[in-house]
Amino acid sequence: MNSMKGSDRTNGMDYRAMVNPVFWTAKTAVCLMADAGIPGAEEIAQDLNLKSADFGMADDEMKLGNELVVEAKYRTMCRLIEGTGIRTNVDLPCGYTPKALYMTEKGLSFVGLDLPIVAQEVAPILLSRASHPERIQIHGVDATNLESLTAALNAVDGPVCISTEGMMMYFTESEASSVITNIRYLLERHGGCWITPDPEFILQFFLTFQSVLGNQAISKLEETRRTATGQSDVIDLTNSFIVRPDNIRESLERSLALLHQHGLKAERINLAENMPELNACRKLTPEQVTVFRSAMGKCFYWKITLDEDRKQRENKQETQAFGLNYELKDNKTFAVSLRGRMDTITAPELLKVWEAAKADHEISAVEIDCSGMQYISSAGLRVFLMMYKALDDKGKFKLTGVNDTVREILETTGFDQFLL
Ligand SMILES: C[S@@+](CC[C@H](N)C(=O)[O-])C[C@H]1O[C@@H](n2cnc3c(N)ncnc32)[C@H](O)[C@@H]1O
Repeated sequence: MNSMKGSDRTNGMDYRAMVNPVFWTAKTAVCLMADAGIPGAEEIAQDLNLKSADFGMADDEMKLGNELVVEAKYRTMCRLIEGTGIRTNVDLPCGYTPKALYMTEKGLSFVGLDLPIVAQEVAPILLSRASHPERIQIHGVDATNLESLTAALNAVDGPVCISTEGMMMYFTESEASSVITNIRYLLERHGGCWITPDPEFILQFFLTFQSVLGNQAISKLEETRRTATGQSDVIDLTNSFIVRPDNIRESLERSLALLHQHGLKAERINLAENMPELNACRKLTPEQVTVFRSAMGKCFYWKITLDEDRKQRENKQETQAFGLNYELKDNKTFAVSLRGRMDTITAPELLKVWEAAKADHEISAVEIDCSGMQYISSAGLRVFLMMYKALDDKGKFKLTGVNDTVREILETTGFDQFLL
């Protein structure tokens, strides 16, 4: 059996970026914030060497629609978080936004949580630009991984206001459900609330684009969707938590029911009633501003809290640490056994040993023993897919010992069709 240590990179590509490229969407967001004149965003984008034109936002109409959505979300979320009176904002995911700078200026503590690749890149930028760096903590986590979240909040006292902007739509059903379970656990442990525009994000995009772009709205929205799915490698931006504009009533009920199953309840907060003045509105005619504001009256953000009527549930899953053992049989079969959770934090380990084995040998078969594996997220599935695609004879890809949880994830994501 082999074990491997070494760099996180292959041919200049970061393994962490390969298993979960969704963090690119956060780079687009900070560029749009810079274009909308949100304080601190331009400096962060400069530190990251970013320009919005690099992210498919060269088209003026598409950029305007996106700027309005991003600025409305950022400023309204800041206002709602402050309005709770809770002194600690846990931003999950924090991306590259200047929220840490804003919140700590206002005297709050800020805990920014994001995938390790983002946390590592954004932490030095925020800490160097903050006038109160001692109020900021940034941690690498995977929102589906409870251990990573509880460890990140270990030193936090008092209630927390968890904010989630632009993340829930990138998850599969099982990932969304794990994240909701995890957030409920954090609320039980710390107290506080969870505020998010994500459940009704499609409506906000649709109504914003429709109110300012008229006939062009649908094509510009489609381009925006293509950019987001392309950057994140996610096929569609929806799951049971997300309200669908083609069936608002039913999908809204389904999303609220999902929260209820998790012992949570939501208050829907009207966007127009809470949205501050936006810089991006200066690019609109007075008539467009009126139509836009009135359209935002149909959008809602959610403030989610524990449903006290529901019995507390013991939901802390016992998770086993991730581990792998692998060997090369006859120099051509890559045989690996996996233990624990394979998610965005752990999947790069498998990718690393696979890439190293592939670089040194002509691998024609893969055998993966999943009997010790508890859970797989889309990052893990992405690594399985890379291994599968690398084989000339797809019949030589074998998964064994798949438990019911992992089987269900493979089935609901459609991966069972070729991996099982
Ligand atoms: C569209 S960006 C939003 C970032 C930020 N909230 C904003 O408004 O710009 C999506 C973010 O979700 C993060 N993300 C995706 N999957 C995640 C996961 N499993 N755990 C934690 N963060 C995740 C990405 O790294 C990225 O920063």
